[in-house]
Amino acid sequence: MEPLEVLLRPFRIADLDQVHEIERHSFPKPWPKFSFVVFHYKEPDGFQVATSNDQIIGYAIMATERARIAPHERTAHLANLAIHTDFRQRGIGRRLVETMIAYAKNMNAHEITLEVSIHNGVARDLYCKFGFVERKTIRGYYGKREDAILMAKRCLEREDKYSSPNIGVLMAKKEDIRERVETVLNELIRPSLRADGGDIQVVDVNEDKGIVKLRLMGQCTGCPMSGNTFYNMVEKTLKEKIPEVKSVRQVSWGQYLEV
Ligand SMILES: CC(C)(COP(=O)(O)OP(=O)(O)OC[C@H]1O[C@@H](n2cnc3c(N)ncnc32)[C@H](O)[C@@H]1OP(=O)(O)O)[C@@H](O)C(=O)NCCC(=O)NCCS
Repeated sequence: MEPLEVLLRPFRIADLDQVHEIERHSFPKPWPKFSFVVFHYKEPDGFQVATSNDQIIGYAIMATERARIAPHERTAHLANLAIHTDFRQRGIGRRLVETMIAYAKNMNAHEITLEVSIHNGVARDLYCKFGFVERKTIRGYYGKREDAILMAKRCLEREDKYSSPNIGVLMAKKEDIRERVETVLNELIRPSLRADGGDIQVVDVNEDKGIVKLRLMGQCTGCPMSGNTFYNMVEKTLKEKIPEVKSVRQVSWGQYLEV
């Protein structure tokens, strides 16, 4: 299969027809177009599209709101996720879920919830791999004959298959440098960032060019020292520990992301 260059970026109104076309082919009861527009205006960065050669090939929508019990925290809801039928099973769904989890963490959400059809084994499997657990069945959520499973993931835990260094063998097949980047971050960098309420996410690793793109999250994003932190701690450490890493770049939300 040809390697695919995929970009993630926030949804634009001009994407609406293509997004809705994917929606129609993905769900028996598709959302109307205006629902996408509402989510876009409510939380623009929570609605991300995956594109390849300027074609929309998938999207994910997350909505966050202030938590009732702890108002300084938020809860996040993964409201929609779909990949164009021609582009499934190429890791794009996984990328979008990973990005949405990072977004939720960046918004200080303590938990992500979602509903998935009881019959949708593919999506349930995907969410399980990111540490979502099945919390309860919602009878008749999609109409009389179709129940939903409410799934939830606590954001502060790191039990997901795709980011744990302990089960990196699966990633090592295709992303050896990425795995080592995660290991260095987990062992040498994240503990001190987290002690200050921050974190860091791997956005992209270009194995051929040795370019690593990272995003500072949580308290790190607004910190006036984040430039220094990035250079002194993150870039120097990664280059020292992983000789194949030639360049370490910082990206922020809303920017075009190469994945
Ligand atoms: C669910 C969906 C988003 C997955 O997207 P995708 O890009 O094909 O998924 P990925 O290639 O990233 O695969 C990630 C995981 O999903 C699961 N998966 C994907 N396709 C699968 C298939 N055909 N059979 C079984 N598992 C599958 C696997 O667990 C896979 O992990 P692996 O690569 O380690 O085996 C996509 O199938 C889709 O758009 N479905 C219709 C809409 C939908 O159901 N959305 C979810 C609503 S809650």
